[in-house]
Amino acid sequence: MILMNDFQSEPIEIREAMMLATQRVFNSGHYVLGEELQKFEQIWAQTCRVAYGLGVGSGLDAIEIALRALNIGPSDEVITTPMTAFATVLAIIRAGATPVLADIEPDTALLSIQSVRRCLSPRTKAVLLVHLYGQVRCMQEWLDFCNSNDIALIEDCAQAHLAQWQGQYAGTFSRVGTYSFYPTKNLGAIGDGGMVVTNDETLARKVVCLRNYGQSQRYHHSELGMNSRLDELQAALLIERLKWLPEFTRRRREIASAYHTGLCHPKVRLLALPQEKSSHVYHLFPIVCEHRNELQAHLQANNIQSLIHYPIPIHQQEICRSLARDPHGLINSEYHANTCLSIPCHPQMSNHDLSQVIDVINSFK
Ligand SMILES: Cc1ncc(COP(=O)(O)O)c(C=O)c1O
Repeated sequence: MILMNDFQSEPIEIREAMMLATQRVFNSGHYVLGEELQKFEQIWAQTCRVAYGLGVGSGLDAIEIALRALNIGPSDEVITTPMTAFATVLAIIRAGATPVLADIEPDTALLSIQSVRRCLSPRTKAVLLVHLYGQVRCMQEWLDFCNSNDIALIEDCAQAHLAQWQGQYAGTFSRVGTYSFYPTKNLGAIGDGGMVVTNDETLARKVVCLRNYGQSQRYHHSELGMNSRLDELQAALLIERLKWLPEFTRRRREIASAYHTGLCHPKVRLLALPQEKSSHVYHLFPIVCEHRNELQAHLQANNIQSLIHYPIPIHQQEICRSLARDPHGLINSEYHANTCLSIPCHPQMSNHDLSQVIDVINSFK
């Protein structure tokens, strides 16, 4: 079976380095908020070229904490996309704010600025931009839009580790960016993890306080915070896994490029190529096909796994049916949910597997 992710086939050197890292943590006798976390936060901040990286428990928590650190909460509206992981919207609700859903662009599945404009209200406090599938696009337009409307921009980079727009890394365009290190992410832990990145010292202090019960100094609580700390073991493992990220990202791009060259079925459409001087990190490689379910069955019959990101847009989730949205509707999101299919695009995929996927899709009847 050609899988969507294949951790078992990772180089043995990674496994060995992770075993040593585990031992390092055991030997330290310090398991939460210690040196491994500090080191990983520094390395990830340096990698993204940002002043602060603050490790938290998950990508979901990173977004909630970022919103709360910006003082966004009850009576505030945050505009985002319905074509995302449920966590993006859940984080807004958990912060006490109100999500408002705008539609996407059909050629990228990213948030549409025209639709966001229709969602603005006097209560709008932020746009939560999701760098979906590993794409970062049009950042100057988003910065200008948010500045001119006096609202914050927050970047959900859970799928965009090392993605750049005009030489600048995802998560560093706005006051605050958030990452997930869920195992299947481009940089994944061996469990849950997340990070908030920012250049703003005040915001960084608030994140540090919020992730640790709202404690500003030992036994002094200035906020009603959370327990959301990236533990030493995950930080130590992430330090080792990060060493492989550039090579793994290069391989993802190679696979994506082969798909762009090789896939040529008249009923299959690919999403847009990255913009000039920008890079895509292909966390996922979705294709679009009106006969998506039949195509998925054809892949399955040929031992190729595929997944749908995402089959149910947020506004069609049972618990979210009453969420506010673009008055023109969310037609593009609904179409994308019905037609998108993510095909294998992971660094362990062999060239043989890659040709197999291309041949099987091109032979779809
Ligand atoms: C776009 C997006 N945002 C947020 C999250 C939440 O991250 P986590 O699973 O670490 O809570 C995910 C991961 O599922 C995601 O893909």
